[in-house]
Amino acid sequence: MAKREIGVGLIGFGTIGTGVVRVLREHAQSIGERLGAPLKIVRIADLDIKTDRGVKIPKGMLTADARGLINDPAVDIVVELIGGLEPARSFQLEALRAGKPVVTANKAVLSAHGIELATAAEEAGVVLGFEASVGGGIPVIRALKESVAGDRNLEVYGIVNGTCNYILTEMAAGRGEFAEVVGRAQKLGLAEADPSYDVDGLDSLHKLVVLTALAFGKVIDPKAVHVEGIRSVSGVDMAYARDFGYTIKLLAVARDTANGVEARVHPAMVPNSHLLAKVAGAFNGVCLRGRALGTSVYYGQGAGMMPTATAVVADLIEAARSVLAGQAPLVLPYGQPAASLDKARVVPMADIEHEHYIRFQLSDKPGALAKITTILASVGISIATVAQHEKPSKGAVPVVMRTHRTQEKALAKALARIAKLAEVRARPVVIRVEETLGQDH
Ligand code: HSE
Repeated sequence: MAKREIGVGLIGFGTIGTGVVRVLREHAQSIGERLGAPLKIVRIADLDIKTDRGVKIPKGMLTADARGLINDPAVDIVVELIGGLEPARSFQLEALRAGKPVVTANKAVLSAHGIELATAAEEAGVVLGFEASVGGGIPVIRALKESVAGDRNLEVYGIVNGTCNYILTEMAAGRGEFAEVVGRAQKLGLAEADPSYDVDGLDSLHKLVVLTALAFGKVIDPKAVHVEGIRSVSGVDMAYARDFGYTIKLLAVARDTANGVEARVHPAMVPNSHLLAKVAGAFNGVCLRGRALGTSVYYGQGAGMMPTATAVVADLIEAARSVLAGQAPLVLPYGQPAASLDKARVVPMADIEHEHYIRFQLSDKPGALAKITTILASVGISIATVAQHEKPSKGAVPVVMRTHRTQEKALAKALARIAKLAEVRARPVVIRVEETLGQDH
C-alpha cells in the first residue's frame, strides 16, 4: 500500500531552505492534489539552530545532527542545501546508499562529483534532483533532460550568475564602478559578504559543467575550462561597448565541436540585437541550440529564496512520485546512464577564435598607433574599427580597436610584443566580442 505522507528532511536551513519550507507550506494543498499525498518537512538540520528564519518550526524538528536526519525513518527524501564539497558529498552519498532520494541546489558538488552521485542514485534506484543548481527557478535542467531529449544539442550558453548580471547591469547604466556596485549588491542581499565565488566566475563554471553534461552527454574537467570573472570590467569599456552596439555580460558558453567541447566563462560583448543583451539585473538567460529544434531560450529568476525553492520543490515532487509508486525513476539524473557519459576534451582557449575589443592606453605621439597595427598585422590580425574619442590626459589617450576574428594565441603573441613598446602606457584591456553565438561557425 502506498505510503500516505512523504517526509522531507532538509539539511541546510539558509535562504533557500527557508524558501522550501515556505513553498511546501503555502502551496501544500495544490502540491498534495498533484501528488495524491501530502509532502511535508519532518526534520531540518543546520549547525545554527538558534537564528529565527521567520518561519515557524515545531519544537524538536530542528537538529544539528545531519546524519541522524538522513537515518531517521520518517525522512523519505533528503534535501541538501549546505553547498560546497564536503560534507555535502558524503551526506548525499549516505542518503542515496540508504535508498533515499536526494534533492540539491549544490552545483559545486555536482561539477566535481556529479557522476559519482548519479551512479549512486542509479544503483539505489532513486531520484537525484538538481533543478535548482542552475538558473534558480528556471526549469532548464528538466528541459534538457526531458523536453529536448530527442534532439542533438550543439550549443548551450548564457548568463547563469544573477549577482554578476546585476553588477554589470548597474555599471552599464552608469550607477557606479565595480567595487561600489558590489557594496550595494551586498546591502541588497544579492552578493555574499565574500563575493569571490560569484564575481570570479566559479559559480558560472560549476553551472556550465552541469549544463554540458546534460546538453551533450559529455563530462568536462572544470580545471581545463578558461574562467575569467568580472572584476576587471570598467565603466569606460561599458561606454565603448554601448557606442559599438554591444552590452558586456558574463557568459558561460559550451559548444560541442569535432575537436572536443569548447567551454569558457568570461565577460563578453554581446550584440544588442541578441536576447541575452536584454537579460538585466539579477535575471538569468540560458540559450540552447539543437540541430532539430534550433534555439530555445530559458529566462527568469536565477537566484533568490522563492524562485530557487520552487525548483527544489519540483524535484521533491518527482522524487515523491517515485517513492509513492515504489518504483525507480524512469528519468535518470543526467537523462541517460551516468556510465554512458563521455569524458570529453576541452578545446584549449588558445585555439578558439573571436573578434576582440582592445583598449590601449597610448602616448599621444605620431606613430604610436602605427607600431601597434604593424605588430597586429605581423601575426595576421586584421582590424575592423579604430576609435579615439577622448582627449589626451597626462600625455596618454585611450585608443579602442575591434579586430576581425582571430585565434586567441595569435592575439596573445601580439600583445606580448605590444607590451614592450614604450608608447603603451597601461596593460591593454581585451574583451571578446561574441558575434557567432547561436550560429554554426
Ligand atoms: N549566486 C548565484 C547567482 C545564485 O548569483 O546567480 C545561486 O546559484
